[in-house]
Amino acid sequence: MSYSVRVFPSREALAQSYAAILIKDLDRIEPDHYYTIALSGGSTPEFLFHYLSENYAERISWEKLLVFWGDERCVPPEDKESNFRMAYENLLQNVPIPDANVFRIRGEDDPGAEARQYSELVTSMVPFYNGIPQFDLMLLGLGDDGHIASIFPDRPDLFSTGQLYDVAVKPDNRQKRITATGRLINNSSKIYYIVTGKSKASIVSEIIEGKSGSGLYPASRVMPASGHIVWMLDTAAASLLRSEQLNK
Ligand code: 6PG
Repeated sequence: MSYSVRVFPSREALAQSYAAILIKDLDRIEPDHYYTIALSGGSTPEFLFHYLSENYAERISWEKLLVFWGDERCVPPEDKESNFRMAYENLLQNVPIPDANVFRIRGEDDPGAEARQYSELVTSMVPFYNGIPQFDLMLLGLGDDGHIASIFPDRPDLFSTGQLYDVAVKPDNRQKRITATGRLINNSSKIYYIVTGKSKASIVSEIIEGKSGSGLYPASRVMPASGHIVWMLDTAAASLLRSEQLNK
């Protein structure tokens, strides 16, 4: 499994690079086909979505996207904690994505039932690779504890389960979540981490440099079928990386 590390001088530069990647990928989509993307929650994705809204609303073929989520908090869509609400307010309501192309996780429903229902929805809408759905792009943030999506360090089983989505609990506040499992995440065609800020520098360097003990972090178990991960970092989040790791 290989990875690239791209370091940007600012969140704006990171967002511009991400937009260019999306434009290039969408240009390759054949007529009547779609690009399936799984969004993440978190502050960096929130900035990215807002920036894309402000600067790329007319410059990206949004109608080619089918939008899913890698995880969701078990709250109603109007709750300030909702990942759907965050994406809707910062991006989806501002760009021409048909409502029919947006598939939110129903955080207001019974978590177990919705994890199953959403797994079935993704199975019906997303083309397969290796016998299960394969997102074209899985967007991931990174928690200080090395969590990705809502796979927290206390749930290593979420990397061995055969489920596509399952129920998790955020350890610090016991908030229920619905999350893509490691099996689905690792089957993605592309996995992009977008991580910014000094507070992430330590966890980023532990994971990218494979420091001892880092294998326990969920982020260390992200190994996409495509074999390639792209880390998109600002200089602050990359500030503890050795120079040979940068811009690989
Ligand atoms: C969520 C995200 C989660 C997030 C990380 C990083 O639902 O919160 O899916 O995995 O990406 O916690 O969040 P920050 O960028 O806000 O630190």
